[in-house]
Amino acid sequence: MSQTLYRKWRPKRWEEVIGQEHIVQTLRNAVAHERFAHAFLFSGPRGTGKTTTARLLAKAVNCLSEDPSRRPCEQCENCVAINNGRFLDLIEIDAASNTGVDDVRELRDKINFAPSQGRYKVYIIDEVHMLSTAAFNALLKTLEEPPSHAIFILATTEVQKIPATVLSRCQRHEFRRIPLVDVVAQLEKIATTEGWEYEKAALQVVARQATGSLRDAISLLDQLASSGKGISLAWASQLLGIGSDQAVMDLVDTLTANQSTHGLEVIHQALDRGTDGKVFARQMIDYLRNVLLTKTGNASEIDAPVESRVKMAQHALSLSVEQILTVIRCFNQAVNEARNTWIPALPLEMAYLDAVMSLANPTTQPENTPTRQQKPEPDANAANPPTKTMAVLTAEEQPLSGTSGITIEQVRNRWREIRNQVRQQNPNVEALLNSCKPIAIKDGKLYLGFNGEFAKEKMERPEILVLVSRIAEQVLGEKVQIVCLLNGQRRGELPPGVDSDGIVAAALNLGGEIVDIQE
Ligand SMILES: Nc1ncnc2c1ncn2[C@@H]1O[C@H](COP(=O)(O)OP(=O)(O)OP(=O)(O)O)[C@@H](O)[C@H]1O
Ligand SMILES: [Mg+2]
Ligand SMILES: [Zn+2]
Repeated sequence: MSQTLYRKWRPKRWEEVIGQEHIVQTLRNAVAHERFAHAFLFSGPRGTGKTTTARLLAKAVNCLSEDPSRRPCEQCENCVAINNGRFLDLIEIDAASNTGVDDVRELRDKINFAPSQGRYKVYIIDEVHMLSTAAFNALLKTLEEPPSHAIFILATTEVQKIPATVLSRCQRHEFRRIPLVDVVAQLEKIATTEGWEYEKAALQVVARQATGSLRDAISLLDQLASSGKGISLAWASQLLGIGSDQAVMDLVDTLTANQSTHGLEVIHQALDRGTDGKVFARQMIDYLRNVLLTKTGNASEIDAPVESRVKMAQHALSLSVEQILTVIRCFNQAVNEARNTWIPALPLEMAYLDAVMSLANPTTQPENTPTRQQKPEPDANAANPPTKTMAVLTAEEQPLSGTSGITIEQVRNRWREIRNQVRQQNPNVEALLNSCKPIAIKDGKLYLGFNGEFAKEKMERPEILVLVSRIAEQVLGEKVQIVCLLNGQRRGELPPGVDSDGIVAAALNLGGEIVDIQE
């Protein structure tokens, strides 16, 4: 009774095959005219109908219906036998478990015997790319001169692994991913026929997750239905580890609004709710792809609710094509790395921070993206004169041994050189240096003043501090520790609990020097 749902829903007639019209049309014609090739290669993504179509073809060429255009008829002895798996002349070989040359040789020996039940002996070799080279060579011999009563149907998800010599002897059909709307429609049909209640949004989530594989979609539906918790959006999202669309949009918001701290929060909240990191990264890519489509005038291709489309349009305005592509690449990396990490949040965090860094790089800034423009330099902003600038120290305070003999003037004179050398190592880091100024040097510490939390936080990543201080040391000839300060806080407005005797006192002393930024 309990048959896997996707097997139960395997198409038995040509009309039931979804989304592969071009292939079905060609094969039906061939059957109707009784003129078909003796070797076929079906390639394409998993769960898109290759095995299904191969069996349909096997049935059609052996169907006993008088009218070839109605084959398979589903009524004759042969059709019934094939449907029940009792047809001797249909031989299915799973190359994944029979990779050896002996299996193919055995096939070759048997192939010359005439069919016992039908008109044709049909060999379906699934996952044919798994055959060993020797087995391929043996198969090739057979494909070169197949007996007229034999038909080969090779199926594979990895056509690039099939030798050209084999390819050239087959009629090729490329199966495509099933379009989202068609997957949703099929899921609705199945749920309705099975008498299940469902939320359509749940089916959409399932279909999206299956990325064009109808089998995967049906399997997921099966899981949802048999869990006893109902086919609801909430349960589907939880089962699949899918983050809310809102979380995805929020995260992109933080990228366009320079709120990297909040962005990390969004990521952690999503993971805390049970979202799978890899799935979330994929959702980001999906979403950004839609932003890209919007930006390039292809919004009509997007299959999303209207609220999401509005948000996509906003994001399309605030990001350049290049920036969108950069962020997509960052999250794509997270998808690839998700498998190899033992810290589930890490690939996402890294992707996100990489994206933040790349967006901060002015060389990738678009001409007119108001939300992404850098804050004005302090000396260019009368409302925030540098004399009012005070610093909050956040970097670790570890005095270096030895006293510094370098003055801040010397540092400023060589600043360009430092930046040039940093750029050769990493242009993104140089962009960070672009958004700060050396404001003082004292006790072996070089103080850099930032206008925004955003760039300062990036600079405080350990690997970046190490890089900059190493290059500063090379250029200045003396070891310096980089300390990042946040400009824009008034003198005396230091947060409570900050030790006013230590580094803060030093920072206060630096107040007069900060004026010098206006050089
Ligand atoms: N094009 C399709 N039309 C209708 N149902 C499909 C289609 N593709 C897949 N299915 C559903 O998925 C199930 C599995 O499909 P099938 O075995 O034909 O996939 P496949 O392409 O051979 O996959 P794999 O590469 O993993 O072997 C079918 O039983 C059917 O329920
Ligand atoms: Mg298959
Ligand atoms: Zn028949």
